[in-house]
Amino acid sequence: MTEQRTSPHDLPDVTGLTIGILGGTGDQGKGLARRFALAGHRVLIGSRKADRAQEAADDLGADLPVSGAENAVAARESDVVVVAVPWDGHRATLESVRAELAGKIVVDCVNPLAFEKGKGMYALPVEEGSAAQQAAAILPDSRVVAAFHHVSAVLLLDPAVDAIDLDVLVLGDDRAATDTVQALAARIPGVRGIWGGRLHNAHQVEAFTANLISINRRYKAHAGLRVTDV
Ligand SMILES: NC(=O)c1ccc[n+]([C@@H]2O[C@H](COP(=O)([O-])OP(=O)(O)OC[C@H]3O[C@@H](n4cnc5c(N)ncnc54)[C@H](OP(=O)(O)O)[C@@H]3O)[C@@H](O)[C@H]2O)c1
Repeated sequence: MTEQRTSPHDLPDVTGLTIGILGGTGDQGKGLARRFALAGHRVLIGSRKADRAQEAADDLGADLPVSGAENAVAARESDVVVVAVPWDGHRATLESVRAELAGKIVVDCVNPLAFEKGKGMYALPVEEGSAAQQAAAILPDSRVVAAFHHVSAVLLLDPAVDAIDLDVLVLGDDRAATDTVQALAARIPGVRGIWGGRLHNAHQVEAFTANLISINRRYKAHAGLRVTDV
């Protein structure tokens, strides 16, 4: 008899969710904004400066439901909030919008990495264990999920790329929240969201991005990950 399997496709309906993106003026945030908007979500690009956020939203085209605001406004007015700032701005950004993020799903895609000549790209040690665990420590009233670490911003932004060949690993301690984020990942054509463990396992997922960047440099690629037999 075949054992009953959990399907990565048996996920909640997330249509209608508004997505906010902290640091959404960078390539990663803008790329995710573009893909979620193409899937029909209202997206609020966040920035430290409202005019920069609006400029980034305008760049994506007037036909997409994207607008710009300060990070705190984007956090307050969204259902799900993606954190897409560089690692060195992670702690301060989250501390500044703690109240606005209370009760919300917060999706952390931040990779604490560094580059050194002779060493290449490598993962930085993080006191809390990972960027996602740091987010959970700063935001005890939010539902922190780690995801989208391995997606290439170049592919997200490329209008010639209709579908992205990628599994997004989604990690977290709140299963309803990880299900929601898996469903959001699946809104990007070609992408599956696969549950990848609890938040305690986020470090190696963040760190593995250093390997993917090394692969990309060597092979001039935008490498992604596929999980087999799921
Ligand atoms: N690029 C990728 O392909 C990729 C893929 C997966 C994951 N990621 C992760 O996604 C995050 C963003 O990547 P990115 O390449 O888009 O980065 P980025 O362009 O360097 O930064 C994104 C935005 O963050 C804001 N920012 C910059 N420094 C900040 C600081 N000290 N404090 C608060 N906000 C700051 C800026 O927006 P404002 O000046 O408008 O506030 C900037 O436009 C990173 O943590 C990265 O590890 C990136």
